[in-house]
Amino acid sequence: MTAFATAAALSLPISLCRSSKLSCKKGVRGGFRVFAVLGEEGGLLDKKNTWGPLFDVEDPRSKMPKFKGKFLDAYQALEVARYDIQYCDWRARQDLLTIMILHEKVVEVLNPLAREYKSIGTMKKELAELQDELSQAHRQVHISEARVSTALDKLAYMEELVNDRLFQDRSPAESDQASPSPSSSTQSLDAVKNKSSRKNLKVSGPVQPYQPHLKNFWYPVAFSTDLKDGTMIPIDCFEEPWVLFRGKDGKPGCVQNTCAHRACPLHLGSVNEGRIQCPYHGWEYSTDGKCEKMPSTLLLNVKIKSLPCFEQEGMIWVWPGSDPPAATLPSLQPPPGFQVHAEIVMELPVEHGLLLDNLLDLAHAPFTHTSTFAKGWSVPSLVKFLTPASGLQGYWDPYPIDMEFRPPCMVLSTIGISKPGKLEGQSTSECATHLHQLHVCLPSSRQKTRLLYRMSLDFAPVLKHVPFMHYLWKHFAEQVLNEDLRLVLGQQERMINGANVWNWPVSYDKLGVRYRLWRDAVENGAKQLPFDKST
Ligand code: FES
Ligand SMILES: [Fe+2]
Repeated sequence: MTAFATAAALSLPISLCRSSKLSCKKGVRGGFRVFAVLGEEGGLLDKKNTWGPLFDVEDPRSKMPKFKGKFLDAYQALEVARYDIQYCDWRARQDLLTIMILHEKVVEVLNPLAREYKSIGTMKKELAELQDELSQAHRQVHISEARVSTALDKLAYMEELVNDRLFQDRSPAESDQASPSPSSSTQSLDAVKNKSSRKNLKVSGPVQPYQPHLKNFWYPVAFSTDLKDGTMIPIDCFEEPWVLFRGKDGKPGCVQNTCAHRACPLHLGSVNEGRIQCPYHGWEYSTDGKCEKMPSTLLLNVKIKSLPCFEQEGMIWVWPGSDPPAATLPSLQPPPGFQVHAEIVMELPVEHGLLLDNLLDLAHAPFTHTSTFAKGWSVPSLVKFLTPASGLQGYWDPYPIDMEFRPPCMVLSTIGISKPGKLEGQSTSECATHLHQLHVCLPSSRQKTRLLYRMSLDFAPVLKHVPFMHYLWKHFAEQVLNEDLRLVLGQQERMINGANVWNWPVSYDKLGVRYRLWRDAVENGAKQLPFDKST
């Protein structure tokens, strides 16, 4: 097998070069050389077989852009890395095909009909040859595995470079200010150098009113099971009081929680035949906010504000923004095979961004969660968050945990476990059992978050029927959250007094930093959002 390499040099103004795994060399002026893993001999599709559709995948090498010897920008380099992944996929299919064909041959040799006209010696020889070929094919699979790992690492690295450039583009003025004066001592020069190469992200000062752009998303606000017919759920959303209830048709509605007459809170009243009734003078409103009953006076044309409100997959969603609502609601279902075991709602006294920062960080676990799920965890020498698929989802190394930030305020994570509190294996796919978590951090008011937590398992379905199990899950979730809360409250207090809660991000802060970049872009009304899968 002869591998040929495609070489490309990056024009990024960054002088980093990761030595391990990546085949990269320093180029001129601190540029990069990126060696694609594409190459090798033709495939095995000519050995036609019955598994056609699985293996009939086009060899991506013909479509690979010709970047050899050229300086690439970050996005072109990402393209190269993406082709590497496609090639790895194609190569893996070829390897699998080889093994399947060899297995078929073994079956043929052992066929009782064939045995009738072949001597034992001939069969033994044929089987020995096939065994050799099989072990060679298995070796090839291991090589492919290593190649996939290298390609994924490379892709993650490219994304990091793009991200770094986003940081640099964001605040050139701050970097300029950090330039050292000629009279600086060597020590202070180093300090300034370190400081200027750090990622600039500023989250400090009193919690500001929410930017209207942030409202133009669908927000989950309650679990369906908590909104029974005839009941109400008062919520704060973007600093306004709202109340949820079901109309006569059973569909949920969300109206302003303030009576049009004299501003009495409506949730202190009741729901009659799908209308919410004010407890003060009995005015009744339908789910679209229209006042349909006005006892003891003439019925006037009165309406209170209402929000677009829908129910999907066990959750109630609202659209608080002024833009027309997006046509589809996102899906937050756990993967197939999981069953929901707990749905918990908590009102927390912290700004929702600070809570999201906390949930998107796993490196704090062995220090913060020492009485709960991370009890006994050792502190790894290096913690990384790798993002091979999209910029807002990836997996933790060395923990078997996949994590995703789902705009505008959701965190999804899948954790490989053997039993609650125990981690197992190096990656989630290696683990036999899993726990899936959904955290929704609804911006209630400036320093308040309504947290919706849903926990699902792909094992022990019987736990769902154990009496009071829900209380145990709730107790455990509260314990974990309290371990975080005292720290986040402390951060919030310091932030209000001027400290920057993103003063010194490091590599394991990647997902939290990306959330902040995404949110900054939304709040600034950017047309194209960073890390958007659709772009
Ligand atoms: S304040 Fe609600 S009916 Fe008077
Ligand atoms: Fe935590």
